[in-house]
This record gives sequence, C-alpha cells and structure tokens, in this order.
Amino acid sequence: MEFRRPDGMERITTKALAEVYIEEQIAALREQVGDKKVLLALSGGVDSSVTAALLIRAIGRQLVCVHVNHGLLRKNEPEQVIHVFREEMNANLIYIDATDRFLDKLAGVSDPETKRKIIGGEFIEVFAEEARKLDDITFLAQGTIWPDILESESGIKAHHNAGGLPEDLSFELVEPVRILYKDEVRVVGRALGLPAAMVDRQPFPGPGLGVRCTGAITRDRLEALREADAIVREEIGKLPATPWQYFCVVPDIRSTGIKDGKRYMGWAVIIRAVNTVDAVTATVPEIPFPVLCTMRDRILASVPGVNRVLWDLSEKPVATIEWE
Ligand code: XMP
Repeated sequence: MEFRRPDGMERITTKALAEVYIEEQIAALREQVGDKKVLLALSGGVDSSVTAALLIRAIGRQLVCVHVNHGLLRKNEPEQVIHVFREEMNANLIYIDATDRFLDKLAGVSDPETKRKIIGGEFIEVFAEEARKLDDITFLAQGTIWPDILESESGIKAHHNAGGLPEDLSFELVEPVRILYKDEVRVVGRALGLPAAMVDRQPFPGPGLGVRCTGAITRDRLEALREADAIVREEIGKLPATPWQYFCVVPDIRSTGIKDGKRYMGWAVIIRAVNTVDAVTATVPEIPFPVLCTMRDRILASVPGVNRVLWDLSEKPVATIEWE
C-alpha cells in the first residue's frame, strides 16, 4: 500500500494533534497487521524508536524489535535502548552484541567508503540471520519518513531505509511515520512517552563512531573516542542553545606529549560542533571559551591515550561535517 502525505495536511505541532495521529495509526496498524508478527531493526534513532513505540501501542508483543550493537554506538546507547523498550515499554526486544564481528571485519581497513560498505553490509547480514531464525514474521516495519520519500523520488539519494534485505526474506512493509516530517516525528514520539534524550537526539550517522575514528579503527582509539564523545555531549548539551550536531573525532595520528616527566605519543581529540538546516551547508557556532576549557580538562584528565584537544573551526563547505 502506498501512503502519501495528503496535500495540505495540517502540520503536527501539538500533543493534541499528535494524539489524533496516534489513534488513527493504531487503528490502521491493527487492521493491516491483524494477528501477524512484525519485525523491526531498532537502532535507537528517532525514526525507528517512534516507529517501535507506535507499533507497541498498537500490537504489543506481536512486534519483534532487533537491536544490533555494531560496536560503534555512543556510550550507554545500547543500554538506553534496552532499558526504554524492554523495561519501560515491555517490548519484545532481541539484543545482539555483534561488536567483535564488526571490529574484526574492519581491522586494518582505512578507506572511508570501504568502512561504510563493510558496516552497512554486515548490518544487513546480522539482521537477516536473526530474521531467518524467526519463522512466523509477515511484516517488516521501517522508520521511513516523508523527506526520505521526497529525496528518493527526486533522485537526490536512495533513502537508506529501503529494505536491502536478501531475496529469501520478503516481507510486507509497515511504515507508520512515513507521511511525517522529522519535527512531527519528534512531537509524536513525545506524545508516546519516549524520553527526551531519545526524541531530541542529534543526528548520528549509520556507521556511527566508525567514521569518527578515522583510518583503520583500533579498539583502544575507539574507546578513547567514545569516552571523549560522552564528555563533549554532556558539556555542550548544557548550553542554553545546543548546536544542531556536536561530537568529536579522534584521527589516527599521534603527537608528542609529556607524562610523568617522560615523552610519550598520544592521540588528539577534535571537538566538532555545527549548525545547519539541511546538512548541505553548515556553520560553526560560538562555544564559550570556559566550556571549551572544561572539555579539555575533563578529556585530558580521564581519557587514556589522549594528550591534545583541538576545536574544528571549519565550515561546510569547504569541509564536510564528518571527517570521513
Ligand atoms: P557530511 O559529513 O556529508 O554529513 O557533511 C552530513 C550529515 O550526514 C551525516 N552522515 C551520515 N549519515 N550515514 C548516515 O546515516 C553516513 O554514512 C553518513 N555520513 C555522514 C552526518 O552526520 C551529517 O549529519
């Protein structure tokens, strides 16, 4: 079934409007799914989380969520997904820690596009293996949103939600947020009771920390990145107006430092914060110097292997937002 956003549809901006949408979707989902089962790859991103929450309201444990941890998630991310969905929402959630599998495949691979292909390909493989173990699934739910449809129709990009599963796995699609814009997905998510940390989450690329641990990923540098990223998100997150996206990068270079009176080679953490409307161009917001110093001090005091902290002032263009 092809659902299109009706011309002139009122923008969902309030809890009351979201509740009307939720009730309509619950009825439509129950009718579409009946007593069958639905499978969903739950990344913990806004779109898949709201899709899951809607389906849980409509069909409860007939929804089977699969959360794949590729080892490139941010600090505490898998724990939060498990807590919110399994414990608070009583979801039928399968958690797969595939960290070793992904990191072993990525060992020694430094080309950014090859890294992306490995992560994307492995993700589909892990998810497909899980799907094959479940033999009574009829539907596949996806967090496709309206801009994904518009972008794939205009040929700008093939929206990344469009299946990609092997041919032996053919499911009927369920897309309960398909006609919504991103801001509407957030309003609906809030009305469904999802925590603010999940609904207001900043954009996070599919390959995760993999494109921020530049060059060939090593476990120790990835861990340093994850720890530094948690500090940067915490400190910048306290600002009255948070930037559109803020994170850090740990490139595969070392520079000289001093520890216990001895010279040692350490990594540099690069703080990146940008403002943008559509990610096509981006500016660098002002971050108060004391906040930068707090991040520097916390990172240098607590993240092993790091001896330098830098701030990336580059706008897009000429730079891109991510380093890879
Ligand atoms: P760039 O680096 O191209 O990033 O200026 C623009 C926006 O896209 C995100 N990004 C990705 N998202 N898979 C994703 O799902 C990717 O491979 C990817 N690369 C970049 C980036 O975080 C920024 O928001």
